[in-house]
Amino acid sequence: MIKIVTVIGARPQIIKAAALSRAIKNHYNTSIKEIIVHTGQHYDENMSRVFFTELGIPEPDYNLNAGSGTHGKQTAAMITGIEEILLSEEPNGIILYGDTNSTLAGAIAASKLHIPVIHIEAGLRSFNKAMPEEINRILCDHVSTLLFSPTKTGYINLQNEGFKINNTKPYTADHPKIYSSGDVMYDNSLYFSGLAEKKSDILTKHRLTKNKFILATIHRNNNTDEPKRLNALFKTLHRISEAHTIDVILPLHPRTAKLLQQNLNAELYKLILSSKHIKQVEPVSFLEMIVLEKNCSIVMTDSGGVQKEAFYFKKPCIILRAETEWIELVECGSAIIADADEEKILDAYNALTSNANLIYPEFYGDGKAAEFICEEMLANLS
Ligand code: UD1
Ligand code: UDP
Repeated sequence: MIKIVTVIGARPQIIKAAALSRAIKNHYNTSIKEIIVHTGQHYDENMSRVFFTELGIPEPDYNLNAGSGTHGKQTAAMITGIEEILLSEEPNGIILYGDTNSTLAGAIAASKLHIPVIHIEAGLRSFNKAMPEEINRILCDHVSTLLFSPTKTGYINLQNEGFKINNTKPYTADHPKIYSSGDVMYDNSLYFSGLAEKKSDILTKHRLTKNKFILATIHRNNNTDEPKRLNALFKTLHRISEAHTIDVILPLHPRTAKLLQQNLNAELYKLILSSKHIKQVEPVSFLEMIVLEKNCSIVMTDSGGVQKEAFYFKKPCIILRAETEWIELVECGSAIIADADEEKILDAYNALTSNANLIYPEFYGDGKAAEFICEEMLANLS
């Protein structure tokens, strides 16, 4: 039996963790013991608890209640808490997801204690170090022992940074193993897709017509914190909704909700609030999100996870950022990078909605990435 500590904290990590917890429960409950640590980075009911209940994730064994704060303050509180837990639990490894401050805190605490780091979503790069996430993911990768990249691009990025593909056992932080494993979020989207349709009434609740609405999310720090960008994004959403008489459903991240009134110009703010088409709602559950993704006509987002889920459900996507880590979405033509640029977004909207020949190749594995990761942990951690 191996013991692993899983660290989660932000919304997408809680959702990602469901795939591995499910695989452990169904296939490895006599060989892998999972201890779950919630850092408390996200704490609102609809940013955290809802996912445990809905996705059957076991209750966290520990909650650090780190909460919000500056990067330094937040990350430091998490490091302190995670270090204490690792010292008392003495696990065979720590599982870290993605690129948030919770990921970085886990990587620092574990690597200093010589506990192997298993990084899920390794190798993704935006090549933009102005993004806090780019710093977090690079630092985490470079102290990891087992690195699971969801894509071929990520696997190649790691090689370009000096990771070797022919390292042999035993693996350590100085002698790590890299994999192209497929994406645990693809596992989850496949698994929860059918259940979502049966459970959620979100379309009727918001009077949305199938295949005739835009699903939009905005939460990236440069989009919310830079008034110029936030104004451009909301102005364009409003313009498209009016010009095409189409509804936009916008589940708003609390970060964005808090900054909207402050950073939008007063006239635009009023227009958005009084718009017949723009439906600003609280963050929705994952099953509700899947229903929105499956039934919308197009996705507009700066979220990493939502870009990919659009693709899983064969929907075109306008990426409201200057770059993406999921570059294969753009290369195959089903997504377009439009940044926070009004003209680029309008062009992308016209191009994607008028193209009947978009393609969605199988880039993200076979839906069994979590089982693969469990097998490799069992073979390589002791
Ligand atoms: C974090 C991640 C980002 C990820 C996102 C997923 C980092 C550096 N960023 O960004 O990569 O895409 O999570 O959603 O880790 N807030 C609440 N309630 C909550 C959580 C947050 O009100 O439950 C508000 C607070 O005002 C907080 C702000 O949102 O200051 C930002 O939260 P934080 O966790 O620092 O970063 P995110 O923008 O959520
Ligand atoms: N998500 C959700 N409800 C929402 C918005 C997003 O369940 O209101 C899910 C979404 O389906 C995806 C994940 O949260 O699985 C993405 O998280 P987010 O956009 O916060 O972060 P990112 O992926 O950009 O790090």
